Amino acid sequence: MIREIKMEVPMFSQSQDSIWLDDHIAPKMLAAHLDSEFDGATRNSEYISQSMKWLTQKCPVQEFPKLLDLGCGPGIYAEKFCEAGYQVKGIDFSELSIAYAKNSAKEKDYTIDYQCGDYLTADLGKEQYDVIVLIYCDLGVFSPTDRQRIFQKVYRALKPGGRFIFDVFTPQKYAAFEEANTWQVEEDNFWTKEKCIHLSAQKTYPGTTTYLDQHYLLYPDSFKEFFIWETVFAEEELLAELKKIGFASNEICGDLLGRPSMVESETLCFVVEK
Ligand SMILES: C[S@@+](CC[C@H](N)C(=O)[O-])C[C@H]1O[C@@H](n2cnc3c(N)ncnc32)[C@H](O)[C@@H]1O
Repeated sequence: MIREIKMEVPMFSQSQDSIWLDDHIAPKMLAAHLDSEFDGATRNSEYISQSMKWLTQKCPVQEFPKLLDLGCGPGIYAEKFCEAGYQVKGIDFSELSIAYAKNSAKEKDYTIDYQCGDYLTADLGKEQYDVIVLIYCDLGVFSPTDRQRIFQKVYRALKPGGRFIFDVFTPQKYAAFEEANTWQVEEDNFWTKEKCIHLSAQKTYPGTTTYLDQHYLLYPDSFKEFFIWETVFAEEELLAELKKIGFASNEICGDLLGRPSMVESETLCFVVEK
């Protein structure tokens, strides 16, 4: 098993396991989505309410009725957009989250089109949507090639004049980052039910703004491996990439509440237009 442990991980290589799909961790991620007090898999409910105010002003439903939510999770934003009158489609690759979202919509008698799928590979269609959102800095997990792919798919799927709204983390988020290697014996916690040895490393790649949070869970006859990638962005660099695809900038703020970007902002929110 020791041979399986990768000390030098090529940037953006995929791990054997995913925190969003793992049998033990995925339910914990769903619980984190549903915890309205805590910025876990979804931000806290106060932030979501405030961001909905800004988003619905930025893209009024009368002008922007058809909306696609990429990585919709259990549908927390999707339901709020539906309540505000948008025709909503949500896509997420977590079966657990989509099952929860579908059930919740059914209970509330909301019409939301949920799809269980990977938005990186799914066909998002052509000129289908007035607004596409990708919320909670998910763009940062992708390699530059996959990021371009997402931009291209979103551009194609938007109607002319349609808007793509997403947030990303800035280098400020990692201002106090220090590399680390740790291990412990664990049981019955976020990572594992059965007893295991948990090895973890947090590292960065010189000359880049990409970080890796790497975990191995070692069991007597098996192991799990998680690579959690995060790239942080400066405004100009991402804007240049978006412009190459054909997007025009509408507004760049510090967050999804529409507040201005400051030196100390840990996020940036892009509103770009086809
Ligand atoms: C950080 S959560 C954000 C959820 C939601 N946007 C929100 O703010 O409430 C990321 C979500 O994206 C989903 N996800 C990540 N990569 C995905 C992919 N390639 N295709 C579909 N869903 C993905 C995860 O399952 C998870 O529900």
